[in-house]
This record gives sequence, C-alpha cells and structure tokens, in this order.
Amino acid sequence: MSRVVLGAADEELVLRVKEATDGDVHVLPAGRLPADPARLFEQLVDGELPDVLLIGPLAPLPEVFGLAARLDVQCPGISVVLLASPTAETWQAAMRAGVRDLLPPTADAGELRAAVERAGSSAAGRRRVLRPAEETARYTGRVITVASPKGGVGKTTVSANLAIGLTAAAPQSTVLVDLDVQFGDVASALGLAPEYALPDVAHGPAAEDTMVLKTFLTQHPSGLYAVCGAESPAAGDTVTAADVSRLLTSLAREFRYVVVDTAPGLSEQTLAALDRATDVVMLSSMDVPGVRGLRKELDVLRELCMIPAGRHVVMNFADARGGLSVRDVETAIGTGVDVVVPRSAAVPVSTNQGVPIVAGGRKDPAAKELRRLVSRFAATPIVRPGRYRAKHRAAS
Ligand SMILES: Nc1ncnc2c1ncn2[C@@H]1O[C@H](COP(=O)(O)OP(=O)(O)O)[C@@H](O)[C@H]1O
Ligand SMILES: [Mg+2]
Repeated sequence: MSRVVLGAADEELVLRVKEATDGDVHVLPAGRLPADPARLFEQLVDGELPDVLLIGPLAPLPEVFGLAARLDVQCPGISVVLLASPTAETWQAAMRAGVRDLLPPTADAGELRAAVERAGSSAAGRRRVLRPAEETARYTGRVITVASPKGGVGKTTVSANLAIGLTAAAPQSTVLVDLDVQFGDVASALGLAPEYALPDVAHGPAAEDTMVLKTFLTQHPSGLYAVCGAESPAAGDTVTAADVSRLLTSLAREFRYVVVDTAPGLSEQTLAALDRATDVVMLSSMDVPGVRGLRKELDVLRELCMIPAGRHVVMNFADARGGLSVRDVETAIGTGVDVVVPRSAAVPVSTNQGVPIVAGGRKDPAAKELRRLVSRFAATPIVRPGRYRAKHRAAS
C-alpha cells in the first residue's frame, strides 16, 4: 500500500480518505499548505516520505500548483493528486504543474482508492528509475576541506571564491558547507539569507534522505548550493562529528565538488571533515606566527595520518613588504607552497558586499591567484563567472 499524506481537507474528506486507504494516511495539520517540499517534510513526524500527496479543495489553487511544481522538480518520486472542480483550465494548470491526477471534490472512497493506487504505482515506478542512478551512478565527488590553525587568515574568503569558481566551471556542480559551526559567515560572504541552516540540514528529515536534503540547501544566484552556518553558537554545537561525516558523504553523492569552510584549529567537526576529504586546502597568512601555526597543524595531521591525497598549501595576505619569501615559508613548513594570494584592498570590499571577488570578472591580483586555485580542481577550463548582484544581502 502506498504511503499517503493528505492536506487541505475538511473532516468529512479525511473520513472518506481514511476509508479509501484503510486508515493508512497521514493528515497534515489544518491551515495553509506547506509552501515548499522542505516545509512539507518538516511536518512529517516519522520522516518517511509519502508516495502520494493528496490535496483537498481547501487550499487556494495557486498554492497547490506552486507546491506541486516544486515537488515535480525536486522530488519526482512523489505523486500529487488534487481534488478540485475538474474544469478545462484547472486540468491544464494541473498538468503544467506535474499533478498526477485530478478528481472532483465529491469523489467517493472507491474512486479515491483507485486514484491513490494509480498515483502510488507511478511514484514507485519513477523511484525505481531514479534510485539506482542516485545510489550507484552518481558522483562520489571531491570533498575539499579548507582549514587553518588561525582565524582571520581567509578561510571563508578562499572557500567562497573556490566554490563560486567551480560553479562557473561546471554549473550546478558544487555545494559549499559552512562548518565554522559557531561563528560561520558563509551566508554573509555570499550575500545569502538562508531559510535553513546547518543544524536543519544535519538533523531531522534532511539527514535521512538525499532527496529531502537537496530541498534544504540554499541556492545562490550563480547556481552554487550552500549549507549556511547555524544561527547561534549553541545551535551550531548540536552538530556532531558523526553528523558531519554523514552530511558530507551524502553531499558527495549529489555534487561533483563539496567545498567545506571550517573554524580555526582542529575541532571535532573539522577533523570529521578532514577525514571525509579527498583534498585539503591548508591556509596561512604570510607571517611568522601564521607559518609556525601551519607547521604545527601539518605535523599533527601527519601524525594522525589525516592528510588527504590532494594537499594544497595556500599562503594568503602575501606582501612584499612583510619580509618573508615563499622559500622561507617552504623551509619552515617542510613542504611546497602551491598558491600565493597577495593582500588586496579589493578582497575586504568584496567580503563586505557579499560578492566573492572571482565573480566580479576583475583583474585584481588576488582574484587571479584565487582563479589559479580553482583551476587546480576544475576539470574544464574556467569561464569567468558572470556578474550578479548580492540580491539577498542581509539587512544587518
Ligand atoms: N588576500 C586578502 N587581502 C586582503 N584582505 C583579505 C584577503 N583575504 C582575506 N581578506 C579579508 O580578511 C578578513 C578575514 O577573512 P576570512 O576569509 O573571513 O578569514 P577566516 O575565515 O579565516 O576567519 C575578511 O575581511 C577578508 O575580506
Ligand atoms: Mg571564516
């Protein structure tokens, strides 16, 4: 029997549907229909996805069609059946929104049962086609963890620019995860106002199913997906190393690149992200304390055997007047430096605007080096990303 969820129904319809499904139906709370699939999944207490969403006549049709169209794109394994007056216009709009079936609001239990069975078996059919692809043929993408012993050295800047650059090279390929669980600022660096944050994505229905997970991601106008940081340090602390491991594994199945921004040092979440990483970008500012810290962190990671196969050392805030040469740094850390990003006044400006500097198509020397970092990962030549404005800049 199909799992059925019923919304926008009065008591009499609930009884009819219970009769049609032998009582096996989850009834959504009265009130407005969930606006999007993520909100729908939040209302399902057991976290199990329905095969059929049955929508009664109490919801305004534009809302129904909005939700159905989103489900059709994001969750094609769920069929929508609508009870509404079957006029020609409604049929046409329903068809365009991907609604499976349309029944008159007076449909009796027998008609409801037949419609649910048809919709359920079509949902199951689509799932059979989708699932194997999802589970086997999808990527196990590169997980690129950006880490450094100290704060303020450019981890978020590098992560955001790398993610934007990879998205430009391969659209829809990349997700950026803010694992600075207490004070993450990826949302601000990208000018995003996320509806869902890391704890929502790491726990609850999104953690159970990759299809649901995708609906909890925040979309950036460039086509990049993001998991933004928690709203408060306390909320961030609920995300454990095990949550991080599971999240990154699921994301790597869906995306070619998973870029992970981290907090300074080696927190349990950062260690989990390094454990899952195919690549690490080790970052330091180009000064003596920064380089010493980097040396210590590399030593610890070497001892723990936690340096992934892809290792990229990036020096940031390079400044000829600082008195340290790349050779000095290489001697101090005992390994090569791969990319040197110069100090540039345009970088803080881009941070404050919420538009990563590689997105601006600028000739800035820091942007040029950040693009060089992107090209270490991108399979295809990098096209300069188009300009966009930070539309959702938070007011604060
Ligand atoms: N190459 C650079 N030149 C000038 N300013 C930079 C550079 N890289 C980063 N910044 C600035 O330094 C500040 C800290 O960077 P951020 O990426 O937030 O560091 P972290 O994430 O390591 O704490 C930001 O305001 C950013 O704009
Ligand atoms: Mg940061």
